[in-house]
Amino acid sequence: MKNLEMPNTSINIFDLEAVAKTKLTTLAYDYYSSGACDEKTLLANMSAFQDIWLRPRMLVDVSNRDMSTTVFGKKVSAPILIAPAAFQGLAHLDGELATARAAEKFGTTMILSTLSNHSIEEVREAAAGNLWFQLYVYKDKGVTKSLIERAESSGYTALVLTVDSPLLGRRERDVRNKFNLPAGLVCKNFIGNYLEQLPGDSAESGLAAYISSLYDTSLSWKDLAWFKSITKLPVLVKGILRADDARRAIEYGADGIIVSNHGGRQLDTTIPTIHALPEVVEAVDERVEVYMDGGIRRGTDILKAIALGARAVLIGRPMLWGLAVAGQSGVLTVLDMLKSEFDLAMALSGCPTIADITTDLIDKKYRR
Ligand code: FNR
Ligand code: LAC
Repeated sequence: MKNLEMPNTSINIFDLEAVAKTKLTTLAYDYYSSGACDEKTLLANMSAFQDIWLRPRMLVDVSNRDMSTTVFGKKVSAPILIAPAAFQGLAHLDGELATARAAEKFGTTMILSTLSNHSIEEVREAAAGNLWFQLYVYKDKGVTKSLIERAESSGYTALVLTVDSPLLGRRERDVRNKFNLPAGLVCKNFIGNYLEQLPGDSAESGLAAYISSLYDTSLSWKDLAWFKSITKLPVLVKGILRADDARRAIEYGADGIIVSNHGGRQLDTTIPTIHALPEVVEAVDERVEVYMDGGIRRGTDILKAIALGARAVLIGRPMLWGLAVAGQSGVLTVLDMLKSEFDLAMALSGCPTIADITTDLIDKKYRR
């Protein structure tokens, strides 16, 4: 069906980003698009995919193709999940509500950020699809515990503990813009208490100031055991880039791992995630599900991530571009675009199902 809200000249994610840029304030576009410092990792996440060559199989019957899979036992129509991304109200009035509705329509899982402009409960109300909750850990253990309890009682089915952000990476564009939330937008999970607003008087990024005063920089492996003891939900650890950390995560009770460098927004010059994935997958050795994010912009990127052992990928910025351009239908367009590129990549590489996407599709140089 033709989507009247979408500019019909946008045929890929890059086109959509260009349109989104015209719709967003400089402050919002810079916050969404930027990476830390020199943005080396931001760019490397994408270019690393382009440097990996495929070895397609020929003369496989691909007349019936199935992109569906499961994530923690829940069916998804394609292995493309929505990454947690803060402050979606900067892109569209409906913010996270629109994203949740698009995710439900598409048939995938959305991960809601702790720093959302709509609350845990509002997002759960907005759509019936599968939701996971991404947790930032506040120094105040009571605050952290209450977020977990709310996610659990609202029906979120997993917790995603982000471990790469004891402090915020230095995003120079946000520093120059003195990033803050415009009037009317707040951290909606904390309505009515002192955690609701970013500090308004910060000389640099208001978000960096918020995080450095409130997040628990002492977070360590033993806390993972504490989270496991206070929740029934599976806990995924997001931000792992090394085999030894992956093994430790499992030792301390992680039920899943997300290979991520936060889209190049935290420590600049970390390795691109697609290069970190194989060693993590090898260390995990099928004990838990492994996911990855960072730089997914094409269907072939998804194919490569699955071939190297990811259960599914998460998309961050592409979803925000869709949201900025056309709200719910824009997010759905992005998901559909990536799905149809992935479908074509599967067909052209001789993979009728997800199970056919095996490591031998990847040039030997990039496998373990
Ligand atoms: C993020 N990301 C993120 N991660 C997280 O755990 N909690 C959060 O609140 C946020 N917020 C956030 C905001 C914005 C604007 C972006 C772009 C990213 C990181 C996100 O989950 C994911 O790791 C990356 O976005 C993946 O890279 P791509 O898909 O953006 O290249
Ligand atoms: C970010 C945080 C909030 O990347 O995760 O902006």
